Amino acid sequence: MAITVRNIRAFKERRERFTMLTAYDALQARLLDEAGIPIILVGDSVGNGPLGYTSTLPVTIDDMVHHTAAVSRGVQNTFVVGDMPFMSYQASFEDGARNAGRLIQEAGAQAVKLEGGRRVLDLVAHLTDSGIPVMGHLGLTPQSVNQFGGHRVQGRTEETADQIKRDAKDLEAAGIFALVLEAVPSALAREVTESLEVPTIGIGAGPHTDGQVLVFHDFLGISEGRVPRFVKRYAEIGEEIRAAARAFAREVEEGIYPGPEHSYD
Ligand code: KIV
Repeated sequence: MAITVRNIRAFKERRERFTMLTAYDALQARLLDEAGIPIILVGDSVGNGPLGYTSTLPVTIDDMVHHTAAVSRGVQNTFVVGDMPFMSYQASFEDGARNAGRLIQEAGAQAVKLEGGRRVLDLVAHLTDSGIPVMGHLGLTPQSVNQFGGHRVQGRTEETADQIKRDAKDLEAAGIFALVLEAVPSALAREVTESLEVPTIGIGAGPHTDGQVLVFHDFLGISEGRVPRFVKRYAEIGEEIRAAARAFAREVEEGIYPGPEHSYD
């Protein structure tokens, strides 16, 4: 059954926990769809892993259209959310509306995600009025990494926690259908989750959000170096790939591959 925004809202009404994973191409998307994951986010985290940047900031709307279109081609039932990258909605309202439209119209996404609170409320209201479902994103919003001075947990002071709570309510009033909460204390995520009718989806936000999201290369054990504390590696695919590549090289060097079963008469 194809997932819609109504199903996503119903998860919360039924108090059913649910998952979202990121993906960036059709093959990844097909595997997650077959696994029954209800939501794929084509995150601007495509910058950190697949595109080899050190942050999400260099990712462009053209990159996002390209990857979101590939993911849309890979799914049957999973709901696809296209992420609005840095500077695709910050310079002007018109940019935001046009670029969100590209993710829906050219790339086949069913919804868009954008980061921030107060400054995006008008855009969220306009997009939802125009028939584009919007997922919000508060807490550690990586497009503001330079302003935060690094990837730091947000909402630890009373003042910043209050701001996140206010932004969450305002985004809900503006029309979001779901809200990502990234790297905030569990108690704050719980308060926000209980205060909203739309579902929250946490990443580094503890166990009380309605859903949980992880990044493809993190949960599969492909990411290298320092990974955040909230990441759980459900597989070690990076090691599997290295081992397979070494086995291929060894078999070619030793004349084992290709064998007769891999060759044409
Ligand atoms: O880009 C991304 O992958 C994200 C998730 C971390 C929520 O925004």
